[in-house]
Amino acid sequence: MDKTNSTATSRLNGVLSHLSSHHRNSTMLAYFANIPQAPPDGILKLSVMSKADPSPEKVDLGVGAYRDDAGSPWVLPVVNKAQKRLEADPAFNHEYLAIGGLPALTGGAQSLMFGADSPAVDERRVYSIQTISGTGANMLAAVFLKQFGQPQDAAVYISKPTWGNHRSIFQTAGHEVREYRYCNYDTLGLDIDGMLADLRAAPKGQIVVLHACAHNPTGIDPTAAQWQQIADVMAERSHFPFFDCAYQGFATGDVDRDAYAVRLFVSRGFELLVAQSFAKNMGLYGERTGCLHAVTQSADLVPAVSSQLNRLSRATISTASAYGAKVAGVVLQDPALYAEWLDNMAEMSSRIKTMRDLLRDKLVALGTPGSWDHVTRQIGMFSFTGLSKPQVAALKEQYHLYMTEDGRISVAGLNSGNIDYVARSIDAVVRNIK
Ligand SMILES: Cc1ncc(COP(=O)(O)O)c(C=O)c1O
Repeated sequence: MDKTNSTATSRLNGVLSHLSSHHRNSTMLAYFANIPQAPPDGILKLSVMSKADPSPEKVDLGVGAYRDDAGSPWVLPVVNKAQKRLEADPAFNHEYLAIGGLPALTGGAQSLMFGADSPAVDERRVYSIQTISGTGANMLAAVFLKQFGQPQDAAVYISKPTWGNHRSIFQTAGHEVREYRYCNYDTLGLDIDGMLADLRAAPKGQIVVLHACAHNPTGIDPTAAQWQQIADVMAERSHFPFFDCAYQGFATGDVDRDAYAVRLFVSRGFELLVAQSFAKNMGLYGERTGCLHAVTQSADLVPAVSSQLNRLSRATISTASAYGAKVAGVVLQDPALYAEWLDNMAEMSSRIKTMRDLLRDKLVALGTPGSWDHVTRQIGMFSFTGLSKPQVAALKEQYHLYMTEDGRISVAGLNSGNIDYVARSIDAVVRNIK
């Protein structure tokens, strides 16, 4: 900026600042004055605290994102390859995606979720729309169900506990949110009797949020037989299943096994919605890549359902993000890259499993009071350790070890460099604090 311009700019700023203080002192309405402070998000707060902690011993077990054995974020090798392929494509551009999203993604995601030979897909009774990752899929489902839920005043039932954002998302969309029992806090296993009793006691036709696999925060999944029991009660009570699937392939390392519950419900004739995220299983966290699938009873229903989902998506995000969808689309559509992706996923889930085994073995070897079998019984990214709030606080304050207040650890944050320290810290705290 030359001198004449900068003098003119500073004079203009002076006039604006004078005007602004003059009007502030006048009778204008303080529009924002009555807005209460929102409570801080527990996980985001934890992440800020952990980042600010300069201790070399620090271990962040809060964030639900995969880390490699060096504790670093991992760009999946297959994602790297897909990116290179996209960059080399002369037709690559940054145009808007179509309203429903990128067909290479939504089509691939559909086969992944329901199986390549899914009768529901063959019968054209599934509509899949691209979303802003899993969170956006949850929100789109919440808004859709608020407008078209039957009965109109159906409440949304979430597991106790659940992913912290479920309550917030469904309440933000205007739903009443209630809880069903899920975790048996004594055994740190599934409270199947409590869950079934609560679903049975709920009025008919409620919306039930189910984690398709790798339940967050507990890592406790129903067995195949228990899923059958859950489906029985859901059918008996005409409840509507909303599956949240944020970890397909992460739970067992096998994408088909992790889709068992969704496919079971589809095969039993339920209509349902499924939120699907590619954040964890493809490591596309910040690219916000996901889908919402609606399974209807017949292909005739798809035009209306898809038109409303498209309309609501248009009103809230206009169109979904392109880059991650293109990367995932390449991986899902190319058989060689798809096979490589399955290997990359197996590598992540087996490293996590090794860390579970090591943590349990080390705690047992140290003679840490209590039983630690639940660490290996649980599945997916997280373990619900059973550590108490004061123990969690002491681990943070005295040992620079960060986890959520409910004692959930992200097992992906453990590695061969910190596992001894983590086990010794937990041991010390469990011995000294109730
Ligand atoms: C159960 C569950 N649902 C949805 C999400 C949404 O993740 P994203 O929006 O990053 O895909 C998460 C992420 O932690 C989750 O654990």
